[in-house]
Amino acid sequence: MPRFTKPRGTLDIYDNEAILLKKVIDVASKVALRYNYIPLYIPTFESTALYARGAGETSDIVTKEMYTFKDKGDREITLRPEGTAGVIRAVIENKLYATGDLPLKYYYSGSFFRYERPQVGRTREFMQFGIEAIGTNSYLDDVEAILLFVDIIKELGVSDYVVRVNTFGNEQGRNKHRDNIKSFFASHIDNLCEDCKERFNKNPLRILDCKVDKEYISKLQVPVSLDCLDEDSKDIFDKTLKILSDNNVKYEVDKYLVRGLDYYTGIIFEVDVTLDDGKVLTIGGGGRYSSLVKELDGPDMSCVGFGLGTTRLALYLENKDGIANYKNNLDYYVMPFSDASYDVAYKIATKLRNQGYTVVVENSKKSIGSMFKYASKKEFKYAIMIGDDELKENKVKIKNLETQEQYYKDIESL
Ligand code: HAM
Repeated sequence: MPRFTKPRGTLDIYDNEAILLKKVIDVASKVALRYNYIPLYIPTFESTALYARGAGETSDIVTKEMYTFKDKGDREITLRPEGTAGVIRAVIENKLYATGDLPLKYYYSGSFFRYERPQVGRTREFMQFGIEAIGTNSYLDDVEAILLFVDIIKELGVSDYVVRVNTFGNEQGRNKHRDNIKSFFASHIDNLCEDCKERFNKNPLRILDCKVDKEYISKLQVPVSLDCLDEDSKDIFDKTLKILSDNNVKYEVDKYLVRGLDYYTGIIFEVDVTLDDGKVLTIGGGGRYSSLVKELDGPDMSCVGFGLGTTRLALYLENKDGIANYKNNLDYYVMPFSDASYDVAYKIATKLRNQGYTVVVENSKKSIGSMFKYASKKEFKYAIMIGDDELKENKVKIKNLETQEQYYKDIESL
């Protein structure tokens, strides 16, 4: 056992797993740019009060899972458990809403921290990719957020997914639903856990997200938010679902869907995939939130966004495709057979690299046999051999390692 090991719930990500994670993040960023979501970089830690206010004081994230500490200046600091509060803080602090056309559209990516019980796909430091559209009153931005999410996972080859959607309609709908939930649980309060008894008073909707009482609650006929929608909200929800259908999004309405954060006031959604062993992984979720900007002392603005767990999605892709499929694809292996070959070797390597090929020059002295062994183990497509005979003729010998075909090429014409 080495003297130093990583903290519980953290990850070392290396080799093909690192290539896979990078691909997930690259694809997510590329697709987000196509929707004109642009990158935003925000701190990895903020004041504790921001997250308490943002994620909701009764959420599990705030009450149990935050990495909070005092810095040397006696400030209460928390490692970010999620991205939305930080993004909104940045938008307000930099008055971004005043300079840009609304909605502002940002994406972000990086490490997040929650003190949770580690298990498959759940770690204490994890990575997330997220988007936020800020200053939007159109449900079409909710639809686009879901389309964007689905485009990302489709581009990564995920076809077996389900988007579960639910809605509060609007703030009034949410408040009505909250009151219904409170009246409903009044007669069940004695059967609930201590945390839920407190949730009942402070934020009854949180009871629906309780991990302890989950089993008990699942047997009850709990009121659903869909019954609290006004005519407008019903119409908007129908239109939302129609566009999702028209765009072949695999969704289902999940009237019992609740989210672990307090700020949602409209549509909410989560996206699930299933591992080979049948375990369901929620790879992301989000929704509309219309009071957070105001609560953080900004203007009255409604927003929509989502978070996609990139480490969790990478785990699913590894399970589905096998990690061997996520190697760095190697094109050319340049084999200088003598010291005199290196000048030419580097000229060729630079030329090919500038054209976008992945090229490795063999820098250590190896026998020809071991070079070929290495080339085939690493699955290069081509070997370029440069020996004294080739140099004299201003040529190199190229071997296609897939077909074994060999031919000579003029160095200049390469
Ligand atoms: P969230 O549902 O808390 O939403 O997190 C989004 C995703 O992050 C989860 O679906 C999951 O894939 C991943 N995730 C969360 N916790 C862990 C963990 N401990 N280990 C591995 N992956 C994890 C949010 O964070 C909201 N800020 C999303 C949002 C943005 N809503 C509106 N805008």
